[in-house]
Amino acid sequence: MSAPKRIGLVGARGFVGQELLTLLDADETCVVDVVVSQGAPGRTLAGHTLVDLSPSTLVARALDGVVLGLQNGQSAAWVQALGSDVVVVDLSADWRFDPMWRYGLVEKERARLQGSKRIANPGCYSTAAQLALLPFHDIVDRAHVFGISGYSGAGSSPSKRNDAALLHDNLMPYDLIGHTQEKEMRAQAGVDVRFLPHVASFFRGISCTIAVDLKQSVSLAEAGDRLRSRYQHDPLVRVVDEEPLVKDAVGRHSVQIGGLRVDGKRLVVVATLDNLLKGAASQALQNLHLGLGLPELAGIALTPKEPS
Ligand SMILES: NC(=O)c1ccc[n+]([C@@H]2O[C@H](COP(=O)([O-])OP(=O)(O)OC[C@H]3O[C@@H](n4cnc5c(N)ncnc54)[C@H](OP(=O)(O)O)[C@@H]3O)[C@@H](O)[C@H]2O)c1
Repeated sequence: MSAPKRIGLVGARGFVGQELLTLLDADETCVVDVVVSQGAPGRTLAGHTLVDLSPSTLVARALDGVVLGLQNGQSAAWVQALGSDVVVVDLSADWRFDPMWRYGLVEKERARLQGSKRIANPGCYSTAAQLALLPFHDIVDRAHVFGISGYSGAGSSPSKRNDAALLHDNLMPYDLIGHTQEKEMRAQAGVDVRFLPHVASFFRGISCTIAVDLKQSVSLAEAGDRLRSRYQHDPLVRVVDEEPLVKDAVGRHSVQIGGLRVDGKRLVVVATLDNLLKGAASQALQNLHLGLGLPELAGIALTPKEPS
Protein backbone atom coordinates (compact mmCIF):
# COMPACT_ATOMS: atom_id res chain seq x y z
CA MET A 1 0.00 0.00 0.00
CA SER A 2 1.33 3.49 -0.82
CA ALA A 3 1.95 6.06 1.92
CA PRO A 4 -1.19 7.71 3.29
CA LYS A 5 -2.00 11.13 1.85
CA ARG A 6 -1.30 14.07 4.14
CA ILE A 7 -4.46 16.01 4.93
CA GLY A 8 -5.14 19.37 6.56
CA LEU A 9 -8.50 20.19 8.10
CA VAL A 10 -9.49 23.83 8.52
CA GLY A 11 -12.61 24.39 10.61
CA ALA A 12 -12.53 21.10 12.52
CA ARG A 13 -14.23 22.57 15.58
CA GLY A 14 -17.59 22.87 13.83
CA PHE A 15 -20.27 20.16 13.73
CA VAL A 16 -19.15 18.93 10.30
CA GLY A 17 -15.42 19.24 11.01
CA GLN A 18 -15.72 17.00 14.06
CA GLU A 19 -17.47 14.30 12.01
CA LEU A 20 -14.84 14.56 9.32
CA LEU A 21 -12.00 14.25 11.81
CA THR A 22 -13.51 11.02 13.15
CA LEU A 23 -13.87 9.64 9.62
CA LEU A 24 -10.35 10.65 8.58
CA ASP A 25 -8.83 9.06 11.70
CA ALA A 26 -10.39 5.73 10.65
CA ASP A 27 -9.23 6.09 7.05
CA GLU A 28 -5.99 4.22 6.36
CA THR A 29 -5.48 5.96 3.03
CA CYS A 30 -5.12 9.38 4.70
CA VAL A 31 -3.35 10.84 7.70
CA VAL A 32 -4.46 14.06 9.38
CA ASP A 33 -1.34 16.22 9.46
CA VAL A 34 -2.78 19.45 10.81
CA VAL A 35 -6.08 20.62 12.32
CA VAL A 36 -6.58 24.37 12.16
CA SER A 37 -8.80 26.45 14.40
CA GLN A 38 -8.73 30.21 14.61
CA GLY A 39 -11.24 30.41 17.46
CA ALA A 40 -9.89 27.74 19.83
CA PRO A 41 -6.20 27.01 19.24
CA GLY A 42 -4.65 24.74 21.87
CA ARG A 43 -7.87 22.81 22.46
CA THR A 44 -7.70 19.04 21.88
CA LEU A 45 -10.20 17.37 19.58
CA ALA A 46 -10.21 13.57 19.13
CA GLY A 47 -6.55 13.49 20.16
CA HIS A 48 -5.51 16.30 17.76
CA THR A 49 -4.29 19.63 19.12
CA LEU A 50 -5.92 22.51 17.26
CA VAL A 51 -3.49 25.09 15.89
CA ASP A 52 -4.00 28.61 14.61
CA LEU A 53 -2.11 28.82 11.32
CA SER A 54 -2.27 31.44 8.60
CA PRO A 55 -3.04 30.23 5.05
CA SER A 56 0.59 30.82 3.99
CA THR A 57 1.90 28.75 6.92
CA LEU A 58 -0.46 25.91 6.01
CA VAL A 59 1.00 25.87 2.48
CA ALA A 60 4.46 25.15 3.94
CA ARG A 61 3.16 21.80 5.33
CA ALA A 62 3.24 20.33 1.79
CA LEU A 63 -0.17 18.69 2.13
CA ASP A 64 -1.83 16.47 -0.47
CA GLY A 65 -5.34 17.58 0.42
CA VAL A 66 -7.16 20.19 2.49
CA VAL A 67 -10.78 20.18 3.61
CA LEU A 68 -12.29 23.56 4.50
CA GLY A 69 -15.16 23.31 7.00
CA LEU A 70 -15.55 27.03 7.67
CA GLN A 71 -18.70 29.10 7.68
CA ASN A 72 -19.81 30.68 4.39
CA GLY A 73 -17.63 33.54 3.15
CA GLN A 74 -14.43 32.51 4.94
CA SER A 75 -12.69 30.18 2.50
CA ALA A 76 -11.20 32.58 -0.10
CA ALA A 77 -7.88 33.33 1.64
CA TRP A 78 -7.21 29.61 2.13
CA VAL A 79 -8.11 28.72 -1.43
CA GLN A 80 -5.94 31.49 -2.87
CA ALA A 81 -2.92 30.41 -0.80
CA LEU A 82 -3.11 26.69 -1.62
CA GLY A 83 -1.29 25.58 -4.76
CA SER A 84 -3.15 24.10 -7.71
CA ASP A 85 -1.52 20.71 -6.99
CA VAL A 86 -3.35 20.43 -3.63
CA VAL A 87 -6.82 18.87 -3.64
CA VAL A 88 -9.19 21.29 -1.89
CA VAL A 89 -12.69 20.24 -0.83
CA ASP A 90 -14.78 23.14 0.46
CA LEU A 91 -17.91 22.51 2.53
CA SER A 92 -19.37 26.00 2.35
CA ALA A 93 -21.52 27.47 -0.42
CA ASP A 94 -18.65 29.76 -1.53
CA TRP A 95 -17.67 27.85 -4.71
CA ARG A 96 -20.79 25.88 -5.60
CA PHE A 97 -21.63 28.31 -8.40
CA ASP A 98 -18.06 28.77 -9.68
CA PRO A 99 -17.46 27.15 -13.09
CA MET A 100 -13.76 26.68 -12.25
CA TRP A 101 -14.74 24.26 -9.46
CA ARG A 102 -16.22 20.80 -9.75
CA TYR A 103 -19.56 20.35 -8.00
CA GLY A 104 -19.16 17.31 -5.75
CA LEU A 105 -22.50 15.51 -6.03
CA VAL A 106 -20.66 12.20 -6.19
CA GLU A 107 -23.37 9.90 -7.55
CA LYS A 108 -23.93 12.31 -10.46
CA GLU A 109 -20.41 13.57 -11.14
CA ARG A 110 -18.14 10.68 -10.09
CA ALA A 111 -16.23 10.40 -13.38
CA ARG A 112 -15.55 14.14 -13.58
CA LEU A 113 -14.48 14.34 -9.93
CA GLN A 114 -11.62 11.86 -10.43
CA GLY A 115 -8.37 13.84 -10.08
CA SER A 116 -10.15 17.19 -9.53
CA LYS A 117 -8.21 19.70 -7.44
CA ARG A 118 -11.06 22.05 -6.50
CA ILE A 119 -14.29 20.44 -5.33
CA ALA A 120 -17.31 22.28 -3.91
CA ASN A 121 -19.22 19.93 -1.61
CA PRO A 122 -22.98 20.22 -2.18
CA GLY A 123 -25.41 21.49 0.44
CA CYS A 124 -27.21 18.96 2.64
CA TYR A 125 -30.78 19.57 1.42
CA SER A 126 -29.43 19.84 -2.12
CA THR A 127 -27.81 16.41 -1.87
CA ALA A 128 -31.04 14.76 -0.73
CA ALA A 129 -33.33 16.52 -3.21
CA GLN A 130 -31.05 16.26 -6.23
CA LEU A 131 -30.41 12.55 -5.73
CA ALA A 132 -34.17 11.98 -5.53
CA LEU A 133 -34.78 14.02 -8.70
CA LEU A 134 -31.86 12.71 -10.77
CA PRO A 135 -33.56 9.52 -12.07
CA PHE A 136 -36.38 11.70 -13.46
CA HIS A 137 -34.20 14.55 -14.77
CA ASP A 138 -35.47 14.33 -18.36
CA ILE A 139 -39.17 14.50 -17.43
CA VAL A 140 -39.23 16.96 -14.50
CA ASP A 141 -41.14 20.13 -15.27
CA ARG A 142 -41.10 21.68 -11.80
CA ALA A 143 -40.36 20.42 -8.27
CA HIS A 144 -41.43 21.67 -4.86
CA VAL A 145 -39.02 20.53 -2.15
CA PHE A 146 -40.43 20.65 1.39
CA GLY A 147 -37.38 20.29 3.64
CA ILE A 148 -37.10 19.78 7.40
CA SER A 149 -33.68 19.82 9.04
CA GLY A 150 -32.39 19.10 12.50
CA TYR A 151 -30.87 22.17 14.09
CA SER A 152 -27.25 21.08 13.65
CA GLY A 153 -27.82 22.22 10.06
CA ALA A 154 -27.50 25.80 11.31
CA GLY A 155 -23.94 25.26 12.59
CA SER A 156 -22.64 25.91 16.08
CA SER A 157 -22.67 29.70 16.34
CA PRO A 158 -25.78 30.56 18.38
CA SER A 159 -28.76 31.69 16.31
CA LYS A 160 -32.57 31.40 16.29
CA ARG A 161 -32.25 28.35 14.05
CA ASN A 162 -30.20 26.32 16.54
CA ASP A 163 -31.87 27.58 19.71
CA ALA A 164 -32.99 24.28 21.29
CA ALA A 165 -35.37 26.06 23.71
CA LEU A 166 -37.13 27.99 20.96
CA LEU A 167 -37.35 24.87 18.80
CA HIS A 168 -38.75 22.64 21.55
CA ASP A 169 -42.18 21.32 20.42
CA ASN A 170 -41.85 23.69 17.49
CA LEU A 171 -41.20 23.93 13.74
CA MET A 172 -39.56 26.98 12.20
CA PRO A 173 -39.97 27.90 8.52
CA TYR A 174 -37.22 30.15 7.12
CA ASP A 175 -35.90 31.58 3.80
CA LEU A 176 -39.03 30.42 1.98
CA ILE A 177 -38.02 32.19 -1.22
CA GLY A 178 -34.46 32.41 -2.53
CA HIS A 179 -32.58 30.12 -0.09
CA THR A 180 -29.01 29.53 -1.36
CA GLN A 181 -29.78 25.85 -1.79
CA GLU A 182 -32.86 26.67 -3.89
CA LYS A 183 -30.48 28.46 -6.26
CA GLU A 184 -28.04 25.56 -6.02
CA MET A 185 -30.70 22.97 -6.90
CA ARG A 186 -31.98 25.07 -9.81
CA ALA A 187 -28.50 25.65 -11.19
CA GLN A 188 -27.36 22.05 -10.84
CA ALA A 189 -30.55 20.15 -11.66
CA GLY A 190 -31.45 22.60 -14.45
CA VAL A 191 -35.14 22.62 -13.48
CA ASP A 192 -37.51 24.98 -11.72
CA VAL A 193 -37.20 24.09 -8.02
CA ARG A 194 -39.24 25.77 -5.26
CA PHE A 195 -37.64 25.06 -1.90
CA LEU A 196 -39.40 25.41 1.46
CA PRO A 197 -36.93 24.87 4.33
CA HIS A 198 -37.84 24.33 8.00
CA VAL A 199 -35.88 23.61 11.18
CA ALA A 200 -37.19 21.17 13.79
CA SER A 201 -36.30 20.30 17.37
CA PHE A 202 -34.19 17.21 16.62
CA PHE A 203 -30.41 17.67 16.38
CA ARG A 204 -29.41 15.89 13.19
CA GLY A 205 -31.09 14.51 10.08
CA ILE A 206 -33.00 15.91 7.12
CA SER A 207 -36.21 14.93 5.41
CA CYS A 208 -37.13 16.28 1.97
CA THR A 209 -40.59 15.58 0.57
CA ILE A 210 -40.41 16.34 -3.13
CA ALA A 211 -43.55 16.99 -5.17
CA VAL A 212 -42.83 16.92 -8.88
CA ASP A 213 -44.89 18.07 -11.89
CA LEU A 214 -43.79 15.85 -14.77
CA LYS A 215 -43.73 16.73 -18.47
CA GLN A 216 -45.31 13.35 -19.27
CA SER A 217 -47.23 10.66 -17.41
CA VAL A 218 -45.38 7.69 -15.96
CA SER A 219 -46.63 4.60 -14.19
CA LEU A 220 -45.55 3.76 -10.65
CA ALA A 221 -43.68 0.71 -12.00
CA GLU A 222 -41.79 2.83 -14.55
CA ALA A 223 -40.87 5.44 -11.94
CA GLY A 224 -39.71 2.72 -9.52
CA ASP A 225 -37.58 1.13 -12.25
CA ARG A 226 -35.94 4.47 -13.00
CA LEU A 227 -35.10 4.97 -9.33
CA ARG A 228 -33.76 1.46 -8.65
CA SER A 229 -31.76 1.13 -11.85
CA ARG A 230 -30.17 4.58 -11.49
CA TYR A 231 -28.69 3.67 -8.09
CA GLN A 232 -28.05 -0.06 -8.38
CA HIS A 233 -24.26 0.53 -8.24
CA ASP A 234 -24.24 3.33 -5.62
CA PRO A 235 -23.73 1.95 -2.10
CA LEU A 236 -24.51 5.31 -0.49
CA VAL A 237 -27.99 5.56 -2.01
CA ARG A 238 -30.65 3.21 -0.62
CA VAL A 239 -33.92 2.94 -2.48
CA VAL A 240 -36.68 1.79 -0.12
CA ASP A 241 -40.39 1.07 -0.60
CA GLU A 242 -41.91 3.03 2.28
CA GLU A 243 -41.42 6.70 3.11
CA PRO A 244 -37.99 6.82 4.79
CA LEU A 245 -37.82 8.25 8.31
CA VAL A 246 -35.27 10.72 9.67
CA LYS A 247 -34.39 8.43 12.58
CA ASP A 248 -33.37 5.70 10.12
CA ALA A 249 -30.99 8.06 8.32
CA VAL A 250 -29.19 9.37 11.39
CA GLY A 251 -25.71 7.91 11.86
CA ARG A 252 -25.67 6.47 8.34
CA HIS A 253 -23.54 7.54 5.41
CA SER A 254 -26.29 6.98 2.85
CA VAL A 255 -29.30 8.80 1.45
CA GLN A 256 -32.58 6.88 1.73
CA ILE A 257 -35.05 7.50 -1.11
CA GLY A 258 -38.55 6.02 -1.04
CA GLY A 259 -42.28 6.49 -0.56
CA LEU A 260 -42.64 6.91 -4.31
CA ARG A 261 -46.21 7.84 -5.34
CA VAL A 262 -47.35 8.60 -8.89
CA ASP A 263 -50.59 9.88 -10.38
CA GLY A 264 -50.18 10.58 -14.09
CA LYS A 265 -47.97 13.65 -14.36
CA ARG A 266 -47.75 14.01 -10.57
CA LEU A 267 -44.96 12.29 -8.65
CA VAL A 268 -44.02 12.44 -4.97
CA VAL A 269 -40.86 11.01 -3.42
CA VAL A 270 -39.17 11.35 -0.01
CA ALA A 271 -35.42 11.52 0.68
CA THR A 272 -33.75 11.47 4.10
CA LEU A 273 -30.10 11.71 5.12
CA ASP A 274 -27.86 12.64 8.00
CA ASN A 275 -26.96 16.27 7.29
CA LEU A 276 -23.60 15.90 9.05
CA LEU A 277 -22.67 12.70 7.13
CA LYS A 278 -23.89 12.25 3.52
CA GLY A 279 -25.10 15.86 3.69
CA ALA A 280 -21.56 17.02 4.53
CA ALA A 281 -18.65 14.95 5.97
CA SER A 282 -19.15 11.57 4.25
CA GLN A 283 -19.61 13.22 0.87
CA ALA A 284 -16.57 15.46 1.51
CA LEU A 285 -14.52 12.32 2.19
CA GLN A 286 -15.85 10.66 -1.00
CA ASN A 287 -14.79 13.81 -2.87
CA LEU A 288 -11.38 14.01 -1.21
CA HIS A 289 -10.72 10.39 -2.19
CA LEU A 290 -11.82 10.96 -5.78
CA GLY A 291 -9.62 14.05 -6.04
CA LEU A 292 -6.62 12.16 -4.66
CA GLY A 293 -7.22 9.00 -6.70
CA LEU A 294 -7.99 6.90 -3.60
CA PRO A 295 -10.77 4.31 -3.14
CA GLU A 296 -13.95 6.38 -2.79
CA LEU A 297 -15.31 4.64 0.32
CA ALA A 298 -12.10 4.20 2.32
CA GLY A 299 -12.83 4.94 5.98
CA ILE A 300 -16.57 5.09 5.32
CA ALA A 301 -17.79 2.10 7.29
CA LEU A 302 -21.14 0.92 6.04
CA THR A 303 -23.58 0.05 8.82
CA PRO A 304 -25.15 -3.44 8.79
CA LYS A 305 -28.33 -1.96 7.34
CA GLU A 306 -26.47 -0.49 4.39
CA PRO A 307 -25.65 -2.60 1.36
CA SER A 308 -21.98 -3.55 1.21
N1 LIG B 1 -24.10 21.68 9.57
C1 LIG B 1 -24.52 21.07 8.48
O1 LIG B 1 -25.46 20.26 8.48
C2 LIG B 1 -23.85 21.36 7.15
C3 LIG B 1 -24.18 20.56 6.05
C4 LIG B 1 -23.58 20.82 4.81
C5 LIG B 1 -22.68 21.87 4.70
N2 LIG B 1 -22.40 22.64 5.77
C6 LIG B 1 -21.43 23.72 5.62
O2 LIG B 1 -20.20 23.25 6.18
C7 LIG B 1 -19.53 24.32 6.84
C8 LIG B 1 -19.29 23.96 8.28
O3 LIG B 1 -20.55 23.73 8.88
P1 LIG B 1 -20.70 23.51 10.44
O4 LIG B 1 -22.11 23.21 10.71
O5 LIG B 1 -19.64 22.58 10.92
O6 LIG B 1 -20.37 24.99 10.95
P2 LIG B 1 -19.99 25.47 12.42
O7 LIG B 1 -20.41 24.45 13.42
O8 LIG B 1 -20.53 26.84 12.54
O9 LIG B 1 -18.39 25.49 12.42
C9 LIG B 1 -17.62 26.13 11.42
C10 LIG B 1 -16.45 26.87 12.07
O10 LIG B 1 -16.94 28.04 12.69
C11 LIG B 1 -16.06 28.42 13.77
N3 LIG B 1 -16.88 28.67 14.97
C12 LIG B 1 -17.36 29.88 15.30
N4 LIG B 1 -18.07 29.81 16.44
C13 LIG B 1 -18.04 28.52 16.85
C14 LIG B 1 -18.59 27.83 17.97
N5 LIG B 1 -19.32 28.45 18.90
N6 LIG B 1 -18.37 26.49 18.07
C15 LIG B 1 -17.66 25.83 17.14
N7 LIG B 1 -17.11 26.46 16.05
C16 LIG B 1 -17.30 27.80 15.92
C17 LIG B 1 -15.06 27.27 13.93
O11 LIG B 1 -13.87 27.64 13.27
P3 LIG B 1 -12.58 28.05 14.13
O12 LIG B 1 -12.28 26.89 15.04
O13 LIG B 1 -11.53 28.27 13.09
O14 LIG B 1 -12.96 29.27 14.88
C18 LIG B 1 -15.74 26.14 13.19
O15 LIG B 1 -14.85 25.19 12.71
C19 LIG B 1 -20.41 25.57 6.65
O16 LIG B 1 -19.96 26.32 5.55
C20 LIG B 1 -21.79 24.97 6.38
O17 LIG B 1 -22.59 25.84 5.59
C21 LIG B 1 -22.95 22.39 7.00
